[in-house]
Amino acid sequence: MQYSSRREFLKGAGAATIGVVALSGLAGGVLSCTKPSTTETKPPAAGTSPTSTGVPWPYQKIDPVAAAERAYAAYSAGGCMYGGFEGIFGELRNKIGSPYDTFPVAMMKYGSAGVSGWGTLCGSLNGAAAAICLVSDPKVYNSIINELFGWYAMTELPDFKPAKPTTTSQIDTTVANSPLCHISVSKWCTKTGFKTSSPQRADRCGRLTASVVRYAVDLLNKQAAGTFKAAFKVTPPVAECLTCHGKGSPMEDVHVSNQSQCIECHTSLPSSHDAFMK
Ligand code: HEC
Ligand code: HEC
Repeated sequence: MQYSSRREFLKGAGAATIGVVALSGLAGGVLSCTKPSTTETKPPAAGTSPTSTGVPWPYQKIDPVAAAERAYAAYSAGGCMYGGFEGIFGELRNKIGSPYDTFPVAMMKYGSAGVSGWGTLCGSLNGAAAAICLVSDPKVYNSIINELFGWYAMTELPDFKPAKPTTTSQIDTTVANSPLCHISVSKWCTKTGFKTSSPQRADRCGRLTASVVRYAVDLLNKQAAGTFKAAFKVTPPVAECLTCHGKGSPMEDVHVSNQSQCIECHTSLPSSHDAFMK
């Protein structure tokens, strides 16, 4: 049987209105890191071993390009989340030493391919967000993460070319419109024709990880200099959806306060929604 569009295919398969299978990354990683804890303890001072579980750890300005190159190399060694974390963290370890030399960075490998291959939150974002949370004031890390995620969803990526790429191919860019691994990778594979198991796809995700780290370090350096300004706002269509479905709204059935695009997945809605779909 031939289907002319994904929507028809879904209809044919007896599925409902959702174009993409549920991906728990929507509510994963970041949301679990949203509420600043009220039990924050003193951060460990540079040069001491960490005696508390508190954040932030000490931060010093680091070179975004060096961090991006480190992220690219770490991607090859341990995957996207490892790269996203180690790119930032490793530069701080080099610069500050203790307590950064005590942390088991290898634990970040779990985030590969949207957490153990589940295609949820992009690992580069997950790793960078973990590092941001570690070194930022508990009151501001959400706004820094929002900037990073908003930029990731809307930007032609990857936009970093490493000094020694793992392939000689041209690596084209795509706009993911989503922070999710599955959506981000599959759009790129569809556009470029490279398979997910190809070395080019791995190179693309390595460069993407480096791009994310470079941007995240820029934000962190601004924070350290006192010049960071939170600018991210959900787009008007998403804000509109949330006036009826978000927190404090009449329906309050959507546990999301930030999102790049609701209609990325909700490709068709009841006709009662026609007014918002224009
Ligand atoms: C003015 C209020 C309002 C706005 C704005 C709104 N919705 Fe809804 N939505 C509703 C109501 C009421 C229902 C349940 C009745 C219905 O299905 O029409 C609903 C139902 C839904 C459903 C369930 C549909 C189904 O098949 O049962 C989805 C999904 C949804 N909305 C998504 C969205 C998205 C995405 C947006 C933004 C593009 C949005 N809504 C904007 C009020 C709204
Ligand atoms: C990554 C894909 C994805 C994104 C992005 C997404 N959703 Fe959903 N949403 C789903 C899936 C999958 C379900 C479960 C659908 C089901 O049970 O039929 C769902 C369920 C819903 C429901 C309940 C539908 C029902 O059947 O009653 C509403 C309302 C809804 N989403 C609104 C939104 C709004 C508003 C946004 C943006 C802030 C959004 N969604 C973003 C995938 C997504």
